[in-house]
Amino acid sequence: MLIRRSDLTSGLVALDVDIDGETMPIIVDCDRSPLRAWLNCCPHQGRRLDYVPGKFLIHKEQLVCAAHGATFELSEGLCVGGPCRGEHLSPVAVLEEPDGSLRFLRGDGGT
Ligand code: FES
Repeated sequence: MLIRRSDLTSGLVALDVDIDGETMPIIVDCDRSPLRAWLNCCPHQGRRLDYVPGKFLIHKEQLVCAAHGATFELSEGLCVGGPCRGEHLSPVAVLEEPDGSLRFLRGDGGT
């Protein structure tokens, strides 16, 4: 599925994207420039972070895992509270191609 920057307007968006030939669930924070993204996978027990697809718990501008309450700040994906405190969400680099389409790579893309 081709995803364009213009498709991502605001808030946290859950997408299934191709990363290295594998379909992976990710979260994109559309309110940041450049876009920030992580695997939609909690470091505690590997569950998705949305409580239903695409719906996230946000408390005081932090993402809360719906399973056991791990709380992540959204600038670096650091867990600041809950059972995996001190761990990070797995970053996904978002690259914008000249035609406006987005490409996703594991890791932070060296940024
Ligand atoms: S799976 Fe997220 S807090 Fe347990």
